[in-house]
Amino acid sequence: MNLLTYMMHLAGSGASAYFSALQIRDIKTRPNILAGFQLAESGSVPFLTNLSQRAAQEGDTWLAEKLRLHAEDEKRHGQIFAHALKQLDKKVRDFKSQSSNKSEDKSESNTGEKKSKQRGNSFFGTYYEGYEGEQLKAECIDWNVFMASTYILELDASKDFARMAKALPEDDSKARNLKLGMLNIAEDETTHAAYLYEAMHRRMSAIQVQQLVDEWRSRKVNAITTYVTNKLKGTDNAPSLTEDDKSSEKEAELVIA
Ligand SMILES: [Fe+2]
Ligand SMILES: [Fe+2]
Repeated sequence: MNLLTYMMHLAGSGASAYFSALQIRDIKTRPNILAGFQLAESGSVPFLTNLSQRAAQEGDTWLAEKLRLHAEDEKRHGQIFAHALKQLDKKVRDFKSQSSNKSEDKSESNTGEKKSKQRGNSFFGTYYEGYEGEQLKAECIDWNVFMASTYILELDASKDFARMAKALPEDDSKARNLKLGMLNIAEDETTHAAYLYEAMHRRMSAIQVQQLVDEWRSRKVNAITTYVTNKLKGTDNAPSLTEDDKSSEKEAELVIA
């Protein structure tokens, strides 16, 4: 990583951590950010499970087992965020049933062109620039792309979750419970980054690993810049990710081991 990328990485992480800390500290914005995390964490489970199966088929039992454990961890992380939302009487909005209730939308916003434009302006669109959706599926993603891109995300997530946990207020039990959960998640993300780093070293030389990691660090810096720019311009008009949880049944307390 060159010095400029490193400086921008620090500035970018600082800026995104600042926004995230603000959002999680404030009880009004906390549900939305928790819902975003729940979707991201739970959403990665099928992908990781499929990757684990693919690794097994390709004869890499070491990687298959690591990916299986990774999927289990992410499932638990999703549950921790779901539980924190439930404690605030919120849940992730059911977009599927809401969109199927609407009549077929043929407006411009549904065209592929607009969608790919939106993707290009998003964090992930910038991060994976040059890769089409098909190339990023578990069945065909290049292992090096998966390992290096996920390594950077996991490494940064471990620090971001720890920082956000510390931003949570101490004065109520729900926030304290969430703080413990997030510190626990941060530790898991460190473990994920470590096995991915090891996985790269099992496949290539230390110099090649460094080059690959540098490439994805630069991509992350660019993606964070896009994210922060959109935040500052107020152009991330994302819909709310939560709705009120009207279920009367209270879930059993989630034990965070
Ligand atoms: Fe996670
Ligand atoms: Fe993770």
